[in-house]
Amino acid sequence: MVLTSWLVALVALVAAGSQGRNSSLDAWFLKDGKGQSCASCHSVDGIELRGFSEADLSRRMARHHPNEVAAKIRGILLGKVPAESGLETRPLQPGGAVLAGATAVDRDNAFLAQIKSKFPELLKPIQDLPGALAFQKAVLSIDLRQLSIGIPLNRLSEDGFHGESHRSIANWFPDVVTFDSDQLRVELEKYRADPSDFNLADVDNKLLAIATVNSPFAELSLAKYRCLMVYQHELRTGRASNVLLKGNPFWLVGEFGRTYPDADPVTIRVPEEIAAAKAMPQTYKDQLRELRLPWFWLGWIFDPSLTKTSLSKETVRGDYFCRSLEGDGPYIGHEIFMLSRKLAEQTRNPLYAKIPFEIQYSFFLTNIPLVEREPKDAAAKAIFRQLTANSFRMSLFLLRDDLTRTNRALHAVPQANQIQYMRKYLEAIGSPEPGLIDSTLKLLKSAKIN
Ligand code: HEC
Repeated sequence: MVLTSWLVALVALVAAGSQGRNSSLDAWFLKDGKGQSCASCHSVDGIELRGFSEADLSRRMARHHPNEVAAKIRGILLGKVPAESGLETRPLQPGGAVLAGATAVDRDNAFLAQIKSKFPELLKPIQDLPGALAFQKAVLSIDLRQLSIGIPLNRLSEDGFHGESHRSIANWFPDVVTFDSDQLRVELEKYRADPSDFNLADVDNKLLAIATVNSPFAELSLAKYRCLMVYQHELRTGRASNVLLKGNPFWLVGEFGRTYPDADPVTIRVPEEIAAAKAMPQTYKDQLRELRLPWFWLGWIFDPSLTKTSLSKETVRGDYFCRSLEGDGPYIGHEIFMLSRKLAEQTRNPLYAKIPFEIQYSFFLTNIPLVEREPKDAAAKAIFRQLTANSFRMSLFLLRDDLTRTNRALHAVPQANQIQYMRKYLEAIGSPEPGLIDSTLKLLKSAKIN
């Protein structure tokens, strides 16, 4: 008898589990008057919110639900507080903290100093192809998640309650709802029971199928929600993730900051109450600026060759990213490091196995001559010159080697133009390389164009 009732209970439990139902999350999925639940904008159980104070939680819960529900939500949020969480958290900040320095220039100089102290092999002058290959290997071996940068990533939350400077959309939470949380509940609960990369991708696929995106602002919210999924996945599993979700949502947040800096919030459909809460008439442009570069950098960490994010040539070349590194900084030391790594990635990227090596320094090598844009600080300038000269030599040796072996080239004219800029810069800093440059240009001229 006892056994049968036990079996009945077990069957009921399994059935409940197979429907992905877990009654303890009911309050989390309960919709407020606007049809929004906590799960519409936060992770499946709010793991990322566990570090917020009781007062912050109560204040935010009161916006959506009466007290009885709030008590149940609090029950869900109780649990181990993730090590890194709360008000000041800047999720996924590489190396755990922003490099010190009051201005972008100071922090860019600190970045170059870090390269010198942690990776001195990157500054050892390259003399030949083996030297170029050693540089390439060294730059590829750097863990981008651990390399501190001077660019502050966005905080997890920005609530105007904490002060005027916190009235910003430059944070990780979606401002508007883009999907019905009931429709995603089964996948979310399956993921919560077994937080594997596979189940995360499953949530994302379903989300993309059910999301309704009818404005640029909604597009931003959807991208933010997807970034949040990756972050909370790391909190939950306790390990860095290299899951690249379709279209690279980190990059998409940066793209929003690039595309709409001059837009009128009304035309991109920011709801009136959000525009007011976020002081958009006063600081809209600053908020978009804060949404640009940090998310481009994060997007790049998840796709360092920039070949898996989008088919757009501007993205693959890193055009807007380079522009933002100089315009929103300047972070020119970060820029040459990023480009060196991105170029080094080419030959190990399977997508590139049959594609000739291509020099591509985007805006780093156009417009205003590089000597005029170098760091002003003497120590930083010396490191910048060594790193840049090595980066150019790596690219030239790799290109020359490829041309010698295959006699095929991509975009020969733009590459030759860039090589002329390299020649000028290397001459200007007293480190000319006429032999390597002339022989590479000659091979480039006679190569078959792909
Ligand atoms: C429409 C999307 C949305 C929904 C629904 C939502 N939130 Fe949030 N939440 C946000 C945003 C956006 C922020 C960042 C601060 C801001 O913009 O006001 C935030 C911030 C928070 C914070 C941090 C506040 C701080 O002090 O920085 C907490 C805690 C929180 N939410 C809890 C909840 C809970 C609990 C629910 C469900 C009852 C919920 N939220 C529902 C979007 C949402």
